[in-house]
Amino acid sequence: MLELKHISYSVREGEEQLDILKDISLTIDDHRLVVFTGPNGGGKTTLAKIIMGLVTPTSGQILWNGQDVTNLTITERARLGISYGFQQPPRFKGLTVRDLLTLASGDEKLSKDKCCQYLTRVGLCANDYLEREVDVSLSGGEVKRIEIASILARNSQLMIFDEPEAGIDLWSFARLTETFEQIHRTGKATMIIISHQERIISLADEVIVVGDGTIRHRGTAADILPQILADTLGGCPVLTKEVKA
Ligand SMILES: Nc1ncnc2c1ncn2[C@@H]1O[C@H](COP(=O)(O)OP(=O)(O)OP(=O)(O)O)[C@@H](O)[C@H]1O
Ligand SMILES: [Mg+2]
Repeated sequence: MLELKHISYSVREGEEQLDILKDISLTIDDHRLVVFTGPNGGGKTTLAKIIMGLVTPTSGQILWNGQDVTNLTITERARLGISYGFQQPPRFKGLTVRDLLTLASGDEKLSKDKCCQYLTRVGLCANDYLEREVDVSLSGGEVKRIEIASILARNSQLMIFDEPEAGIDLWSFARLTETFEQIHRTGKATMIIISHQERIISLADEVIVVGDGTIRHRGTAADILPQILADTLGGCPVLTKEVKA
């Protein structure tokens, strides 16, 4: 179980204090598929990075399976079964796709078959990619899919995907949603997926709308989707007028 207690995150910008997350408390039970959604700049990625330990909250506490992990490093949290896939994955010159998957799996010699299974789940063929370097020669969508495959290889208890759909073509996207559904069905992991995609939102047990550094709404996809739409229109007076007219 993941528990966030009164998480706030502020940064200084010159004289000003910017409050990016404001007193967020939230509990996510095991094996749930939870989608964080909401407007750009709302705080979703910051919240995910705080869970992974890439960003330290200004105040508040993170408990994972009852253990306070607030002051643990990324590596320590990874050992406890938390993994995070970047919105914009880093590239690693000199490291092949096979190396990356092997490192992620913790297996000293990950078989080609296993690599192939992970890559297939994100719509890539091992023959074409295993010996490629994870460098700038890969397209944005390829690097994103390889990053997701490496999270699958890690087989963590808590998987956090930051906009997995970004830059991914429709065919691979369909494959990816199947993969999420499958992981969810087998109950192997808790998943937090940050997404703007209706298709992914509709997979969720629970949807959490993060906006302006707070939790704006929580509920099922059926409850939340109409509210998101209402929120979107509410933010734009011209649109609201058009709709009312
Ligand atoms: N270190 C920082 N310094 C200044 N501003 C920051 C910092 N980190 C995050 N922000 C700001 O905090 C807000 C939340 O950012 P975050 O990346 O969490 O948003 P998001 O909900 O993931 O947005 P998107 O949907 O565009 O990915 C943004 O306005 C961002 O510019
Ligand atoms: Mg983001």
